[in-house]
Amino acid sequence: MSSTEDIRIGVIGATGAVGTVTLALLAERGYTSVRALASSRSAGGRISFGADELPVEETTAELLAAGDLDLCFFSVGTDTSRKLVPHALAGAAAVIDKSDAYRLADDVPLVVAGVNDEALAGAQAASSGQIVANPNCSAMQLACVLKPLHDTAGLTRVRLATYQSMSGKGDEGMEQLRATAPAEGDLALDWDLIDDEFSEEWKLRAETRKILDLPALLLSATCVRVPVMVGHAQAVWVETEAELSPPAARRALEAAPHVQLEGFPTPGRAAGHDCVLAGRIRRDPAAERGLVIWVVNDNLRKGAALNAVQIAEALIARNLIGAADRG
Ligand code: A2P
Repeated sequence: MSSTEDIRIGVIGATGAVGTVTLALLAERGYTSVRALASSRSAGGRISFGADELPVEETTAELLAAGDLDLCFFSVGTDTSRKLVPHALAGAAAVIDKSDAYRLADDVPLVVAGVNDEALAGAQAASSGQIVANPNCSAMQLACVLKPLHDTAGLTRVRLATYQSMSGKGDEGMEQLRATAPAEGDLALDWDLIDDEFSEEWKLRAETRKILDLPALLLSATCVRVPVMVGHAQAVWVETEAELSPPAARRALEAAPHVQLEGFPTPGRAAGHDCVLAGRIRRDPAAERGLVIWVVNDNLRKGAALNAVQIAEALIARNLIGAADRG
């Protein structure tokens, strides 16, 4: 297995909302061979990396394809990922991509660490180029909670309403919130429409089905952006095949990796926290076998950068990334 020092890492989108958290997590974990890449707009500047700084380099096709990177974290948006990821693969890097460009492709694992790591079993060695997709932030926190409930009692139906923070839109969203008094803000309509649904609602269903390997799971969502800087909240109504009491649900969630039970989780509590917070678990009086759960998560950490780093750690543990193949 490679050590953290050996692995040559590129963070693409290093100056963005997710990229800066990715750099912080890599510095905390002792990775030392890290390059910060962004657009030509930020190239030439410097960016914090733990107690140090890194130069910001322009992301070019040549740089990515040169074979100098073992692992690339992409947090750049869908169109830019589509354009740049193939060059990183040509350079034989393993790619962990945060955009929705590859998430639903059959041959690309869509992984929530601690939920479906087994999907990485199909991953090829980095030397042949490998993409692992990092899910949508809302699908990620939902899957962390649904998986243990499904394993315990079998899910039959899931309905949810989301209250998503502005940092989910990246730096642009955070700037918008800083510049807008919440009472004046018209913050909800920032997703495309797919038929009658927001793309975010459609993604939540499609990605959750893939992550949990439940292709027919009944799931509907209403997604709303709220004037909160960091931390997505969800009210989730689940129905199950077998009886699932609130105490049994609490036990299942307590035993789940990356989930922490709280009385009343809030975005303020979740921001900067590594776990998905779940609370207010109670019977749903409107369903025969149903529960209501309140779920809050730091969308930039487990919802994005932390999960990407955990995917990398899982690949490293499986010897799928590293310096072994370097000629
Ligand atoms: P830059 O700061 O140079 O524009 P966010 O999602 O927070 O808006 O961040 C988007 C990130 O993606 C930023 O780091 C941004 O860099 C980067 N980015 C945008 N377009 C490109 C591109 N064509 N090549 C490389 N990085 C890009």
